[in-house]
Amino acid sequence: MNNNNVYILGIESSCDETAASISKDGVILSNVVHTQIVHAQYGGVVPELASRAHQQQIIPVVEAAIQEAKISKSTLSAIAFTRGPGLIGSLLVGTSFAKAMALSLHIPLIEVNHMQAHIIANFAHGEGEELQKPNFPFLCLTVSGGHTQLVQVDGFLEMKILGQTIDDAAGEAFDKVAKMLGLEYPGGPMLDKMARNGNPKAYKFPHPHAPDLNFSFSGLKTAVLYFLQKEKQKDPNFPGDKMADVCASVQFTIVSILMEKLQAAIHQTGITEIALAGGVSANSSLRETLLALGMQNNWKIHIPSFEYCTDNAGMIAVYGYYKYLNNDFCSQEITPLARFPF
Ligand code: KG4
Ligand code: ZN
Repeated sequence: MNNNNVYILGIESSCDETAASISKDGVILSNVVHTQIVHAQYGGVVPELASRAHQQQIIPVVEAAIQEAKISKSTLSAIAFTRGPGLIGSLLVGTSFAKAMALSLHIPLIEVNHMQAHIIANFAHGEGEELQKPNFPFLCLTVSGGHTQLVQVDGFLEMKILGQTIDDAAGEAFDKVAKMLGLEYPGGPMLDKMARNGNPKAYKFPHPHAPDLNFSFSGLKTAVLYFLQKEKQKDPNFPGDKMADVCASVQFTIVSILMEKLQAAIHQTGITEIALAGGVSANSSLRETLLALGMQNNWKIHIPSFEYCTDNAGMIAVYGYYKYLNNDFCSQEITPLARFPF
């Protein structure tokens, strides 16, 4: 197989973003994301509505990605798609579309694990953009709405989970606390914005215990709930003008929990090249804290640019390229997986 001029179409449809991207030799030419707004009125993703919206959006989104990349369908070398993990109805739309398109173009199909693709987002860049790519082995802290994982990455196809959440994910903790505080959906980015004007030490919340390199966030959510109930008894308008302080304090706690386990993983493995991945890596405090710790401890830090942090197909198209180089193709018999272990 020719390893030059490899054009990959990446398709992502695991949750509430319908996304398509074209990479050429691992460099992103286009990255189109359609975020479904229908869920906002329900305060969370409604699976049935998500799959219907994917069906409506998949053709225009893929067409836009091809047009923006200024290529034609016949140029494509292969199609990479998110097989899982995610909402099964949503995954089915992207998987079926990718299969049909690959079949009609007589090109290979590449399955991608969404969580591994988040990690590979650290290799994603557009034309003319400088990027210091991570060297193997590196540790990746992957923090998203559904997952929180510490992963040892030994190669593009060699990833090992060292620890993960035993209950809620970090993004879920952000979103649930934001909802309790009455912030607009999606809560994580709103909480981040509010926290910028707050004092992170104003209130103290507990660090729930999880064994080894695992994480736990559900106790924090409950602690915030009880804290709010208690404060509201004293002042029914709470948090009122203390909103920024509460947001900053919760954010500080979540980031501290993440950093504690990351430090333990660095200590355990001796690996000091660190990457961040997943939607929560868009969080300003997490980015700043990790960069500061990196400077202090002489760790090499990698953080994807914002557009490759939250769900996108650029990470699928880039991972698809590296899988293409490894001849890692799948058959037309493939089906999506709601749960997809490494
Ligand atoms: O990776 P992602 O886009 O989707 C999943 O695969 O889950 O992650 C979405 C999660 C949501 O929980 C969202 O609130 C959170 O990432 N998130 C943030 C920020 N931006 C996105 N959380 C905190 N601060 C942010 N700036
Ligand atoms: Zn994701």
